[in-house]
Amino acid sequence: MKDLFQKCYDFHQAKDLIAENRYPYYKVLETEQAPEIVIDGKKLIMLGSNNYLGLANDPRMKAAAIKAVQDFGTGVAGSRLLNGNTILHQNLEKKLAKFKKREAALVYATGYQMNVGVISSLIGRGDYVILDKLDHASIIDGCRLSHGEVKRYRHNDMEDLERALQEIGPNHGKAIVIDGVFSMEGDIAPLPEIVKIAKKYGARTIVDDAHATGVLGSTGAGTCEYFGLDHGEVDLIVGTCSKSFASVGGFAAGDADIIHYIRHTSRSMIFSAALPPGPVASISKAIDIIQEEPQRRKQLWDNAAYLKKAFEDMGLDTGHTQTPIVPVIIGDDEKAFNLWHVLFNNGLFTNSVISPAVPPNRALLRIVATATHTKEHLDRALNIFELGVKKVLGTKAHSIK
Ligand SMILES: Cc1ncc(COP(=O)(O)O)c(C=O)c1O
Repeated sequence: MKDLFQKCYDFHQAKDLIAENRYPYYKVLETEQAPEIVIDGKKLIMLGSNNYLGLANDPRMKAAAIKAVQDFGTGVAGSRLLNGNTILHQNLEKKLAKFKKREAALVYATGYQMNVGVISSLIGRGDYVILDKLDHASIIDGCRLSHGEVKRYRHNDMEDLERALQEIGPNHGKAIVIDGVFSMEGDIAPLPEIVKIAKKYGARTIVDDAHATGVLGSTGAGTCEYFGLDHGEVDLIVGTCSKSFASVGGFAAGDADIIHYIRHTSRSMIFSAALPPGPVASISKAIDIIQEEPQRRKQLWDNAAYLKKAFEDMGLDTGHTQTPIVPVIIGDDEKAFNLWHVLFNNGLFTNSVISPAVPPNRALLRIVATATHTKEHLDRALNIFELGVKKVLGTKAHSIK
C-alpha cells in the first residue's frame, strides 16, 4: 500500500546540505534587517534582502508601527469585509492610489495573497491569462486558482506574446500578467510594447510592481512612471509591501470600478484576516519617506552600479539586469551552493537561487545592496567575493561568462 508521507522521509537534498553545513536557507537572524546582520553570533554584511531603500530599521517606520499598535491593537481579528477594516487601512489605500496615480487601491495581507486573489477574481471560465515564462510563482498560483486557461510566452519575447494572443479567439476575455521588474535577474518588462500588443488583441494588462515600487520612476512610483505610462494605459498595477515599503502586505491599484469588483469577489481578501495596524502604519510612513527622500533611490542605484561593475571586472556574468537587483550567474547548483558557503563563512550574506526559482542550469547568487550600505560595506563585500570566486570558481572566473 502506498504511504502518502513516504516522500517526506525520502526527501534528502536539503538534509544533505544541512549535514555538510552548506544549507543556505531559513537562516536565523539575531538582529533586525540592516546593512549588517548577526547569524549564529557572527556579523555578516547583508546583500541578500529586498529592503531596497533601507527602511526596515528606520526609526520613523518603527515609531509609526508602535503608535498604530498603541491606538489600534496588535490585530484586527477578522477579515476587512466583516470587522477588520480600520481608518488606517482606508487612509493607506487613498495614499497608495495617489502614489500610483490611480483612482483607487486595495491592500491585502501579503503580496502572494494579492496575486492569488486578484487573478482568481478577474479570470473566469472561458477567459485566458497570458504570462511571461519568468513571472513570479504567486502569479502562476493565482492562475491555478482561477478557472481560466493559461498561455505562456518566452521571456520578454514580443513575437511570442503575439503568437500566444493570436491563438485565442476574439470572444474570450484576455489578460496579460507580467512582473514589471523580474525578481531574480532584475530585467524590466518592455511595457510600452506589451500595452500596444494588448490593445491590438483586446487584452487587459496587469503589472506586478513588487520590485519596481520605490525603485523605478522619477518619484519611485514604479514601471508605469518609468515608461511614462501614467494615464491608465496599464489596466491594473499590483505589488507587495514587503520590499521597498519594508513591511508586509500586497496591493492593487486601478480604476475605482475594478478595485470595487475585486474587493467584493477576491477570496483571499474576503476569507482571510486583514493586515494588522502596525504594518499598515509603517507602509504609510514608507510612502511618505520615499516621496520626501529621493536621495535613497539614487543611492540604491549608485550602489548597484558599483557592485555590478566590480563583478564584471572579476569576470562574472551579471546577466541582463537593468535595476538594483544584481544576479551573479553561476549555472551549476553545486557551484552556487559552494560559492554561497564560502561567502557566508567569510562574513557575506547573499541569496543562493536555483531552479524552479530560475530556469534549470541557471543557478545564481542574487545580490542587492540597499540604499543604506556604505562604500566601506561594499568594498568589504567585494573583497570577500573575490576570495570566494578564486576558491570556488578558480582564478579563471572569466570562463563562466
Ligand atoms: C514579483 C513578486 N510578486 C509577488 C511577490 C509576493 O510578495 P510577498 O512576499 O509580499 O508575499 C513577490 C515576492 O517575492 C514578488 O517578487
